[in-house]
Amino acid sequence: MGRFTSLSILSLFLLFPIITQHAKPAMSLPLSTNSRWIVDEEGQRVKLACVNWVSHLEPVVAEGLSKQPMDMIAKRIVSMGFNCVRFTWPLFLVTNDSLASLTVRQSFQRLGLLESIAGIQANNPSIIDVSLIKAYQAVVSSLGENNVMVILDNHISKPGWCCSNFDGNGFFGDPYLNPDLWITGLTRMATLFSGVTNVVGMSLRNELRGPKQNVNDWYRYMQKGAEAVHSANPDVLVILSGLNYDKDLSFIRNQPANLTFAGKLVFEVHWYGFSDGQAWVTGNPNQICGRVAKDMMRTSGFLLDQGYPLFVSEFGVDQRGTNVNDNRYLNCFLGVAAELDLDWALWTLVGSYYLREGVVGLNEYYGVLDWNWCGIRNSSFLDRISALQSPFRGPGLSETKLHKVIFHPSTGLCVQRKSLVDPLLLGACTDSEAWSYSPQKTLVVKGTYFCLQADESGTLAKLGIFCSESNSKWEMIADSQMHLSSKLRNGTSICLDVDSNNNIVTSSCKCLNKDNMCDPGSQWFKLVDSTRSRSGGKSFLHFDSIPDLPGKEFFWNLLGGSI
Ligand SMILES: *[C@@H]1O[C@H](CO)[C@@H](O)[C@H](O)[C@H]1NC(C)=O
Ligand SMILES: *[C@@H]1O[C@H](CO)[C@@H](O)[C@H](O)[C@H]1NC(C)=O
Ligand SMILES: *[C@@H]1O[C@H](CO)[C@@H](O)[C@H](O)[C@H]1NC(C)=O
Ligand SMILES: *[C@@H]1O[C@H](CO)[C@@H](O)[C@H](O)[C@H]1NC(C)=O
Repeated sequence: MGRFTSLSILSLFLLFPIITQHAKPAMSLPLSTNSRWIVDEEGQRVKLACVNWVSHLEPVVAEGLSKQPMDMIAKRIVSMGFNCVRFTWPLFLVTNDSLASLTVRQSFQRLGLLESIAGIQANNPSIIDVSLIKAYQAVVSSLGENNVMVILDNHISKPGWCCSNFDGNGFFGDPYLNPDLWITGLTRMATLFSGVTNVVGMSLRNELRGPKQNVNDWYRYMQKGAEAVHSANPDVLVILSGLNYDKDLSFIRNQPANLTFAGKLVFEVHWYGFSDGQAWVTGNPNQICGRVAKDMMRTSGFLLDQGYPLFVSEFGVDQRGTNVNDNRYLNCFLGVAAELDLDWALWTLVGSYYLREGVVGLNEYYGVLDWNWCGIRNSSFLDRISALQSPFRGPGLSETKLHKVIFHPSTGLCVQRKSLVDPLLLGACTDSEAWSYSPQKTLVVKGTYFCLQADESGTLAKLGIFCSESNSKWEMIADSQMHLSSKLRNGTSICLDVDSNNNIVTSSCKCLNKDNMCDPGSQWFKLVDSTRSRSGGKSFLHFDSIPDLPGKEFFWNLLGGSI
């Protein structure tokens, strides 16, 4: 081994910034599809972990620019773990010349939003006197400079809050949705951003809906729109939404979209707690989760099996944690999203709006940023979605390492062991134990003989090596299939649970059905296929550090070469 001279140390320092620059997780764009996965130029999976950024309300300016510089917002998006923005735009931005030619200042002036003008002057002076479309482009480039991918989402036609059945923007033939004008607008937008590499996709139309919606017109116009976008910009993913507020794509099962191009088609779906009214509060969460998840598979989830990527382009909750309907839904949603390893976009980045539905400065409780666009509204919410921000599996991730992780939606963490003697606990899914789930229904730490067991005292979960007893067999029970249940030797059923210190414990199974007053969330787990966490077991002890006692080698091998 050589010695460092002061010169080589100096060159190390000089090299460092270069190395880190090249170590950026820059994927090679454009993206395309490989069966149900979205992949980059190298064929490596790219999981869309996006956040929605609104720019389709009356001012037609990306929200928040009066509160923070756009570069700061872009950097905050990255620091929160998102790799992409679904960036909304109203059709009339590119089809109505008198709107398109307004400057940012004029747009706020006509709405009397003088405070917003002052805020933009202070935080983003470079856009205050440029046209609305130039301001939109500036945000896209700022995101690009920060390696954030962008999906252009045609959210509505006439600028304003979306969506209702009778707002005139719902379906082809509605007062504000002329199909020809829509094609013109899509073509303009696709052309404008052709060659802008961080624009990776276009959502053709948000939440089709209303009394005019029908399947025939869906094919007629969506196929036309898709072809128009593809010929103007063959690099972007073409993202198609379903009927009924983007909840229903069931018709694709019998009639695929007929397109001249391949490898670029993605479907999008929306799924909120309120998509099912108040069902989560009035019903039993296990039963609702079972029913709603099955419904989702029937109306959109089946597309994965048909070989299309499915992008949940809107989901979200009131992040104050006070909406019981939202809270119960979120545990179920996160379980499904992890299990299917879906691409997604959270609603929303927005901490507050310039003007929404007539209210100036409206606070957005579904937003990850706070009212000032400065802090994070609720960091525990971000913790819960962070496991979903990187792929569990897919092209480029070694399938030979396939194993299960035990994901716990209500914390966003996964079951792991600190050591053989300590109780099991929850930890970051990136450090998750690699489990295998056998046909005998045992959960074994891969590469060892240790299986998950219910302690006969009935309160702890532990690892053991005698895995043939009933307390080592785990079944997913209830309509939700999210309780991991086992039986003590005396026949008592118990469920895996989590105590207040995030230790894995067992307790009596709660609110499996009927009861709508209790929340089973702490007992909900998902066995998720993964190839990403470390292979085999984590080493707590090095072989050489164990004293040479008789039988050392035998026991070491029994433990699978790791403790
Ligand atoms: C075009 O935009 C202007 C400014 O917002 C608006 O007054 C006008 O009604 C729009 N025209 C159409 C045809 O939508
Ligand atoms: C698909 O579209 C092509 C032309 O774009 C047409 O010739 C063909 O008949 C269509 N197929 C179906 C099944 O509609
Ligand atoms: C964040 O969310 C959690 C869980 O929903 C909730 O208990 C907590 O009160 C929220 N915190 C804030 C600051 O809203
Ligand atoms: C079975 O054992 C558990 C834990 O020791 C105990 O709490 C429970 O009451 C027992 N059940 C029966 C039916 O004996």
